[in-house]
Parts: sequence; structure tokens; C-alpha cells
Amino acid sequence: MTELTELNQATATKIATLPDAQTVTEVRHWSDRLFSFRVTRPRSLRFRSGEFVMIGLLGDNGKPLLRAYSIASPSWDEELEFYSIKVPDGPLTSRLQHIQPGDEIILRPKPVGTLVHDALLPGKRIWFFATGTGFAPFASLLRDPETYENYDEVIITHTCRTVAGLEYGRQLIEKLEEDPLIGEMVAGKLRYYPTTTREDSPHMGRITTLLKDGTVFRDLGIDPISPETDRAMVCGSLNFNRDLKELLESYGLREGANSEPREYVVEKAFVG
Ligand SMILES: Cc1cc2nc3c(=O)[nH]c(=O)nc-3n(C[C@H](O)[C@H](O)[C@H](O)COP(=O)(O)OP(=O)(O)OC[C@H]3O[C@@H](n4cnc5c(N)ncnc54)[C@H](O)[C@@H]3O)c2cc1C
Ligand SMILES: NC(=O)c1ccc[n+]([C@@H]2O[C@H](COP(=O)([O-])OP(=O)(O)OC[C@H]3O[C@@H](n4cnc5c(N)ncnc54)[C@H](OP(=O)(O)O)[C@@H]3O)[C@@H](O)[C@H]2O)c1
Repeated sequence: MTELTELNQATATKIATLPDAQTVTEVRHWSDRLFSFRVTRPRSLRFRSGEFVMIGLLGDNGKPLLRAYSIASPSWDEELEFYSIKVPDGPLTSRLQHIQPGDEIILRPKPVGTLVHDALLPGKRIWFFATGTGFAPFASLLRDPETYENYDEVIITHTCRTVAGLEYGRQLIEKLEEDPLIGEMVAGKLRYYPTTTREDSPHMGRITTLLKDGTVFRDLGIDPISPETDRAMVCGSLNFNRDLKELLESYGLREGANSEPREYVVEKAFVG
């Protein structure tokens, strides 16, 4: 038995005594910085696609070490999926990246968040703007029938430093049209606009720059963003969110919330 497996089993045994333990069913590593995993879903857990929960492991002090995570699976899925960074010295992810099927994690079943359809007024076209792991809430929303029922056109932009950073999203989107539940709804409605900033790919540059100079609209052959037709959800670093908010406001869109739906909503992908 390897040292790591022993560690996982010891952790799992300890967590099993907690009320919020869920079992890992699948783990996929996308790069040395990114992985995704699926866990069992508490039967009582209801959430709206786009929301986040607190998940984690037991800390060395025996107390739960929890972090916010967007649920990447849609609300109808029997399991829960998460898409995660691996921060080499991160208190949680330095350990979480080693989980294996059969291990247990802690999941607090209290979903919250602003990246939900309820926080937007009706519109014709919806934009999902993501950087890095900020793709996670959109992995949920892109698999939700409500997204395609509510809008004529769905545009997902994902900006990463490298091509490897795009891979989880690229594969998920590629499979959408074959999905038995929403495949037919997706066909002809979904536009995917991936960009990279530090490695060559078909679309290079920050999405903010490509919006400002009109490249995105030209590439997609569409009209610029307007408050009459467009709605947007944004998820990335604090700087990305700030810059995109500024841009969306310049098009005339206003920030909404659960209690006051408007034209766009924003959520942090991480702090720092
Ligand atoms: C609302 C919300 C939703 C979130 N959803 C996700 C999610 O779906 N997937 C996910 O991987 N993380 C998500 N995070 C970040 C997550 O909560 C943790 O920060 C992350 O798991 C790292 O935990 P850690 O203890 O290893 O390091 P921390 O001590 O939490 O972070 C250390 C440093 O690593 C960097 N960092 C942390 N998270 C990220 C990230 N996701 N991408 C790039 N750099 C990062 C930051 O510079 C941070 O200061 C979310 C955060 C918030 C606030
Ligand atoms: N991703 C990696 O391979 C890598 C490797 C080692 C360490 N790290 C560390 O991990 C942390 C997070 O890295 P990350 O790559 O996940 O997230 P990130 O730094 O937020 O970058 C993700 C993508 O968003 C773009 N971006 C950042 N700020 C923006 C803004 N204000 N407007 C528009 N686009 C913006 C970046 O472009 P730019 O490239 O132009 O910034 C990049 O393409 C950082 O502290 C980093 O130092 C990352």
C-alpha cells in the first residue's frame, strides 16, 4: 500500500464520522494545475445551476478545511461534479488533488450564488464570460435546458493562459450536441469562443481586448452587446470581473442580483 493511499484511507475513515461526507466516484486530471471530480449527491440537495457550495477535507487539526466551489454539474444530474485548480501549496488543493474514487470529502449542502437565471431579466442572447476555473459554473449552466429555453443564442467565452487550460471546457462543449437530454436544444444555439493569452491558438488575447476592438463580434458575425437583447454572466479573477463589469456597463448593461434581476451578474472564481 502506498503512503498516499494510506493517507486517503485515514482521511476517509475520519470523515465518515461527519454528517456531510460524500463519496468520490470519478477523478480526471486535465493538467498539472487542473482536475475534475464527481461525488455522490446528498438526496436532500436541491440547487440552481450556477450556484456554489462549500467542500473540503478534514484538516490536520481535525476540523473541516472548507473552500467555496461552483457545482459544475447541472441541477438534474444524479451526482455532483467539480472542476478544480491545484495550488501547489494551497491548504486544501495540495491535498484534494490526490483524492481517488472511494475516498470521501466534506460537502456542506447549502448552495448559494448569483450566477443563476433568476438574477437576469429576460433577453434574446446570453453571454457566459469565464477565465480559468471560472468555467465551472458555466459547465453547469451549459448543461441546463433552461439556458436554451430562455435564450435564442448562447455564447460562452473561455480565456486561459494555455491550450491545456481550455481542455475540460472544450470536451464538455463538444459532447453537448450528443447529449440525449439537451442535444437538440443546443444545436444551432450555442457559440463557443475560446481564447489563450500565453500560448498560440486560433483566438489569441484577453476577451476584454477582443470585445473592445470588436474582434469577437466580427469573428462571430453578430451585433455588438446591447441592453435590449443581451444578458451576461461573468466568472473569473477579481481583476477580470472588475474589467468586464466596466465593459458591460459601457454597453449599458446593469448588474443584477437574486433579489433584483437585471442584465448581468458576476461571481468570483477565486480570491487573491
Ligand atoms: C464563489 C467561489 C467559487 C469558487 N469556485 C471554485 C471552483 O469551482 N473551482 C476551483 O478550483 N476554485 C474555486 N474557488 C476557489 C476555491 O475556493 C479555493 O480558493 C481553491 O480551491 C484553492 O484552495 P486552497 O486552500 O488550495 O488555496 P487558497 O488558500 O484558497 O488559495 C491560495 C491562492 O491560490 C490562488 N487560487 C485559488 N483558487 C484558484 C483558482 N480556482 N484558480 C486560480 N488560482 C486560484 C489564489 O491566488 C489564492 O490566493 C472558488 C472561490 C469562490 C470565492
Ligand atoms: N495558469 C497557469 O499555467 C499558472 C501557472 C503557474 C502559476 N499560476 C498562478 O495561478 C494563479 C491563477 O492563474 P490562472 O491562469 O488560473 O488565472 P488568471 O491569472 O486569472 O488568468 C486566467 C486568464 O485570464 C486572463 N486575465 C487575467 N486577468 C484579466 C483581466 N483583468 N482581463 C481580462 N483577462 C484577464 C489571463 O490573461 P493574461 O495571461 O494576459 O494574464 C489568462 O488568460 C496566478 O496567481 C498565477 O500566478 C498559474
